[in-house]
Amino acid sequence: MKPELSTNLCGIKLDNPTVLASGIIGNTGELLKRVGDEGAGAVTTKSISLKPWEGHPSPNVVELKNGLLNAMGLPNPGAEEFIEEIKIAKEGDALVIVSVVESSIQGYADVISVLESAEPDMYELNASCPNVKGGQDISRSPELAGKLLEKACSVTNAPISFKISPDAGKLTDVARAVDEAGASAITAVNTLPAKAIDSKTNLPILSNTRGGLSGELLRPIALRCVSEISDAVEIPIIGTGGVSTGQHAAEMISAGARAVGIGTAVWHHGVGVFKKVSDELSSIMESRGFENVGAIEHGI
Ligand SMILES: Cc1cc2nc3c(=O)[nH]c(=O)nc-3n(C[C@H](O)[C@H](O)[C@H](O)COP(=O)(O)O)c2cc1C
Repeated sequence: MKPELSTNLCGIKLDNPTVLASGIIGNTGELLKRVGDEGAGAVTTKSISLKPWEGHPSPNVVELKNGLLNAMGLPNPGAEEFIEEIKIAKEGDALVIVSVVESSIQGYADVISVLESAEPDMYELNASCPNVKGGQDISRSPELAGKLLEKACSVTNAPISFKISPDAGKLTDVARAVDEAGASAITAVNTLPAKAIDSKTNLPILSNTRGGLSGELLRPIALRCVSEISDAVEIPIIGTGGVSTGQHAAEMISAGARAVGIGTAVWHHGVGVFKKVSDELSSIMESRGFENVGAIEHGI
């Protein structure tokens, strides 16, 4: 018998544990729908703010040997403009997670209030972006993170995931604070603050001078964060960072994740990566006798 790949995220069934991470081709409804059609169990939108944000000029991405360094600066069209895109994304099979960003706690609540009419399946609060001013402040403070969750929960009944920084410092304190304040899940992790210098000029390559590291190089750090958070709280974790194979997904679930975010691997290998990861995960489960995704957590 084929292993059961479906998984339960905050009471919602995903056909398989793969999730499109925020910011990678999640900027239109049609693209999000397509990623679902290509096999993702859930799709996360680009982070959306109340008014349009321009982002940083290029160069805003540096391709590394085993990862990416980006400082896109969260360009997005603003909440009102994005309502229609969420509605289109929701026509697909995948669960739609809407990522929200703002520069104040009230701002996050304002964005959610505007987006409520599109009825997203879930929200993700991006309070951990290293590429915008103060973007990681909330993820570094258990007190602020708890306040953010309380405020966000007061304006929606949809489940909310808190996206945490691998650079949070008080990682488990932040995880416990958001759990106690009403978070339904934690997305771990966002990119890790990093820098690249041009070898000829000795100047920073990115226009923003620093950026966030993702991909292969981030995976061991993401695994460590997921396992620490899973020891601290019971709510599900969307383990994100450097996943591009079924074995990586199995490791992330084994570390404590319920679902697995995939970002940089889509950038490098295209949308076929979701089906590839699911198929490989299924083969691994079959060969090791795991009947369902939950069994991996205790078995590897
Ligand atoms: C080009 C790029 C853009 C990103 N934009 C966002 C974003 O808008 N919001 C967000 O929460 N995370 C954003 N991220 C972070 C990813 O969602 C993810 O947390 C991180 O890249 C680690 O996963 P990965 O190694 O699979 O890419 C971005 C990452 C990349 C590479």
